[in-house]
Order: sequence, then structure tokens, then C-alpha cells
Amino acid sequence: MSNPLKLTHFLHGGDYNPDQWLDHPEIIDRDFHLFQQAHLNSITLGVFSWAKLEPSEGHYDFSWLDDIFDRAEAQGTHVILATPSGARPRWLAEKYPEVLRVDNHGQRQHFGERHNHCYTSPIYREKVQTINRKLAERYGHRKSLLMWHISNEYGGQCFCDLCQAAFRDWLKAKYHSLDCLNHAYWSSFWSHTYTSWDQVEAPSPLGDQSVTGLNLDWHRFVTDRTIDFFENEIKPLRELTPNIPVTTNFMGGNPPESHVFTDLDYQKFAEHVDIVSWDSYPNWSNDYESTAQLAMKTALMNDEMRSLKHDNYLIMESTPSQVNWHPYNRSKRPGMHEMGSLQQIAHGANSVMYFQLHQSRGASEMFHGAVITNNLSDQTRAFKDVTTVGHDLQQLTGAVATHRRDARVAIVFDYDNMWALDDSRNYANATKQYWRTIQEHYQYFWEHDIPVDIVKTADDLTPYTLVIDPMHFLMDQAFAAKLKAYVHQGGHLVGTYITGIVDRNDLAYQGGWLPDLQATYGLTVQETDTLYPHQHNTLKAFDKTYTTKDYSDLLVLDGAEPLGTYERDFYAGTTAISRHPLEQGAAYYLGCRTDTDFLEDFYRSLDRSLKLTPELPLKKKTPTVSIQVRENATAHFYFVINFSHQATTIQLTQPLTDALTHQPADSTQELPAYGVRVFTDSQD
Ligand code: GLA
Ligand code: ZN
Repeated sequence: MSNPLKLTHFLHGGDYNPDQWLDHPEIIDRDFHLFQQAHLNSITLGVFSWAKLEPSEGHYDFSWLDDIFDRAEAQGTHVILATPSGARPRWLAEKYPEVLRVDNHGQRQHFGERHNHCYTSPIYREKVQTINRKLAERYGHRKSLLMWHISNEYGGQCFCDLCQAAFRDWLKAKYHSLDCLNHAYWSSFWSHTYTSWDQVEAPSPLGDQSVTGLNLDWHRFVTDRTIDFFENEIKPLRELTPNIPVTTNFMGGNPPESHVFTDLDYQKFAEHVDIVSWDSYPNWSNDYESTAQLAMKTALMNDEMRSLKHDNYLIMESTPSQVNWHPYNRSKRPGMHEMGSLQQIAHGANSVMYFQLHQSRGASEMFHGAVITNNLSDQTRAFKDVTTVGHDLQQLTGAVATHRRDARVAIVFDYDNMWALDDSRNYANATKQYWRTIQEHYQYFWEHDIPVDIVKTADDLTPYTLVIDPMHFLMDQAFAAKLKAYVHQGGHLVGTYITGIVDRNDLAYQGGWLPDLQATYGLTVQETDTLYPHQHNTLKAFDKTYTTKDYSDLLVLDGAEPLGTYERDFYAGTTAISRHPLEQGAAYYLGCRTDTDFLEDFYRSLDRSLKLTPELPLKKKTPTVSIQVRENATAHFYFVINFSHQATTIQLTQPLTDALTHQPADSTQELPAYGVRVFTDSQD
């Protein structure tokens, strides 16, 4: 595992926009004083500062940023320096309207908002490179410069002529001939045959939205275009500051789903950054799920981000208190800030950073939580909570050189599959819910403290004892062969309904289920029954009856043995759940969607036979307590977090040190509501 930042302590900091306070130097003085008080050791500068850095074209003013660097250096604070492309100055859009995005109705946007530049515009690319070069020349050698923060939360799409032309070039490079394109898009359907490359347009409500292969390629193109823009941004930085790592802040999806962000294939994007960082905003204390349920989803998002590079990552943004954009912007309950912050460290984050260090005085984010709020006090709950986390991170310095314990369980997640499945005109749009399905499969492992990786199809599966591959609708033959080889080599595989339906071009497989899937699962799938929300079947398995919902595959076994059968409807008595032993391994097929009660029993039985639950020197009483282990060759750190409003206790079964107090830990430990404990066997 690499450590591109060479950190010797956890980062604690966040986005800081002193450019909003330049006429109040006393505020900036006080901010720096308060940063030290709150144990903040890093500031992220320059996100959205373009208008202050280049007030008019070619006229730069770095004096204020020089001053902030000096202040940071004087107190040993790291600087994460952003490139300013996330929002452009007015003069730039006014003079060069091509930098503004065009929507899918062909309408060019006005100047405004942010994160909305054209990714192709040669002028925008040039202007961004120019300012980035200036920043690298001026600050590349400052000793406080830790890392580049490229732009901010890339996302969205542009449909301008330049982007359309780039899309056509991308398609030409991919398909080489129009015949191949026509075949991939099955364009004889509705007489949509292309006879010239110029006819190809991005999907649009004014044109085509029903060519699902085109829709899928557009998603892929948008990722590639964004990465291309990013690569263009970092060129001067790589040239002038080859030893300064680059990252860009990825996003999580919004509540209530706590979904992955769906615009960009982060598995691909992650190959271009030196370290993964992301912005994490769980809506703690909402009214529709328990704290533990949301903690499970947040744990999964962290596991997903860690798995992108199979390495430690950073929390680039989180809120010290509440945000301003959730449907309901609730405060954190006492203890929750420490709970949520250390949860991310437990999963492999090497930072807790905030949006924002000093609250904006005006505009839309003046009510977004901040370390220093508009009352400027160090007596707010948020300031005290942040100080507590800063203190914790200092005590945990010995854990920075550790990684989350290696996982023996992997869940496959694939962006092409997500896009194609969402776009498929079959099943039920309201209930496909690929990511929620992943969450439901993840739940057992989270509750039992079993480490999980979220893998891409290109990852090596052989290190895992158990691979779960839910709803893999778009699967290429090579991956089906990889699954087969994995099981033959002794792997245990779980697949589900709606798997192996289309190829990489989103064309239906011909002549039945993929032979490698048939051979692996020992069955064929005849059809999939889509149920209405209030319709159910029942499943008999493990001597119990479970409710099933949403989807039922009708299976014909050919080598597999039944583990569960449908009890109702015209397929009553047929197999719903099966097991296919293959040499040392086995493949399980879940033909129907169930509630998590079945998944819990199912995974418990696999856990018993595969011995997945780790031996830990701590015993908990409830699944709402999570225990995550970070370790290296010489030390283990056990992060024990109570994701409940009720206090509980845990037992230590071996002598350990309390890593937050450095005192020997008593064998019975109280965990208050939302309480956190960290124990270690480290001798340091
Ligand atoms: C995102 C952005 C920040 C800020 C926060 C608010 O993460 O990157 O600039 O707007 O949201 O939560
Ligand atoms: Zn464009």
C-alpha cells in the first residue's frame, strides 16, 4: 500500500475562504488562533477563489494568498491548495461564452452558480492551465503545500457543439466504422440507422433517448471527458510540482438513499488521482431510519471509497454540525460528531476535514455548519465538538500508519451495470435499486464486524473467500468466465436475480443465459417476474417462511441443489434459492428479492461454514455497535462505536490500552449513546 502524502499524523482541517474576509484582517487573525485551539492542522485554500486571484484577464493578485500561506507556515499548518476551476470569474464567461455549458435542450446557460463549465472548451482549458501554472510556480515550493485539490466536485454534462464533436471523435475511436456503431446501437430499430458520423448526437429529449446503447456510451464519454479535463488541469502541476500529490473531491449521493454519486465512474477516475478523497454528509438523526441503519450506509460508502484504490483515503469535506441542503437540516445530537468522524477513520480515512472552517456571511451557504460560525465564538457546540475530534486524532497518531484490516468478503459494484440497469425498459423503475440492494447485502457483514471491500470487475477476486455479485444485469463474457474460474479455484459466490442479461454494448444475450453463468450456478433462468409493491410471494428456506418482493426469477436447475422454494403463484414449488458446489468452491443463486431477515439467515449460514466473523478481543452486546480494525504488522487499533441513542457495554477479552487516554483499559467498558472508544495493543 502506498502512502502518497507520507502523513505522520491524521489531517484535521477543511475548506477555508479568507478571500471573503480580506477587509477584516482581525477576523483572519482570530481564525488562525482558533484553528490552533481546535487542533486543526490543515487548511484547504483557493476553492472558488479565481475572481480574487485573477480579477481581470491576465492581472493576478496573489498577495492575499501569500499572506495566508505565511500564516499557515508560521503555525505549522498544512495547505491543500485548490485549482479554482470549480467556479469562474464573470469576465471569463462574458468574454468567452463558450466556457458556459449547454443543456440537453441546446440552451446555453448564463453566467452563474458553479461546477458548470464546458469540459471541452479549448479556451476554458487554456485559462485553467494558465492559472494553475501560476499557482504552481508561486506556491509549488512552499513547505506547507501538502497536496493539490483539483477543481471541486466534478460532475454534470455539457451538450455544446464542441462536446458533441468530442463525443463523435470518442465514438469513432471506439467503433472505427459506422457499421459497428449501428450494430452496437441496434439502430435498425425504429429506422434510426446512422449514415454519417455527423448525425450522431448526445441523448436529448429533443432527439433520441431510447437508444440505450447510446445513453450508456454517453455516460462513459462524460466520465472520459471529465477525466480528460482533469488531466489537462494537472499538466502544469505534474510538470512543476511532480512530488505534490493530486486529488479531487469525489461525492457521495444525497439522502435518503445515501447512494453513490452516479454521474461519473469513480472506479475509472480513481486511477488518475494519487489519493482518493471524498465529501461525506450523512444526515444523522433523520426521521426515517435508525442511526445504526444510516451508519451502515455510511460505512459502505467509506468502504467503496477505500476500495477504489484499495488504500487509505481522505475525508475532504464533512460538516461540523448541519448542512444547508438536506431536506431538513438537523443538528447533530451530542456525541454524534465524534461518532461520525471516527467512523470514517475506522474505515481507512486519514483525515477529518470540514466544509467549512469559517462560515460564509452571505449567500446560500451562510447557514451551512462551520467550525467558526457567524457568532465567532469558541463556545459553540460545533467548535467544541471539532476540538474533541482534533484531540482524538492527536491521540491516535500511532494509527495513521495502519490500514483497515484486509477483507475476505467482496461485493461487486459496476458503473456500466448501474447505468444500463437504471435505463433498461423492463422490471420496475421504482424497485430496481441496485445500490440499495448492495446495502442490504452489506448489512449482515457490517453488523458482524466482517470487513468488506467493494470491488470493480477488473479487480482480482482470488483474495476473497466470498464474492457477492448482486443484480449484475450488464455483464460481459469475460467477467462471467472470471466468476467461473473464481468458484473453480475454491471461491464462494453469491449472485442474484437480474444477472447476465446484456453484453457490454447493452445488447441482449442470444440463446439463453451465458454458458459460463449456467455452468457456475448450475441452472438456467427462464424468466423474471416483476411484482407490484404490494404483491408478495413467500419463500421456504432454513425451515422458515420468508416474504419475497419485487423480483422472482423462475429457475431450472441443472446441477445446483435447491436451498429454498417459492410457495405461491404459478411457480409455487420451484426453486428460488440454490447452491451449486464446484470443486472446493460453491455458487449460490438468490432468485428473488427478500427482506434482510432472509439475508441475515443466509449469510449467517455462510459465515458459519466459511468462518468469516473475525476473532476480536472484544465482545459486543448489540449489532448497533460497530467494531472496525485498523492494523499493521505490529499493532491493531479497534474502533468501537455505539450507533445508538442507548448506552451499552462491551467486554474486553484481552488486555488492551485505551488509545484515546493511553491508559490500560478496564475489561468492562461503558459506551454511552453515540459513544466511541478506541483500543490498541500497540506498545508505543
Ligand atoms: C459540497 C461543496 C462545498 C459546499 C458543500 C456544502 O461538498 O464542495 O463547496 O458547497 O457541498 O455541503
Ligand atoms: Zn461543452
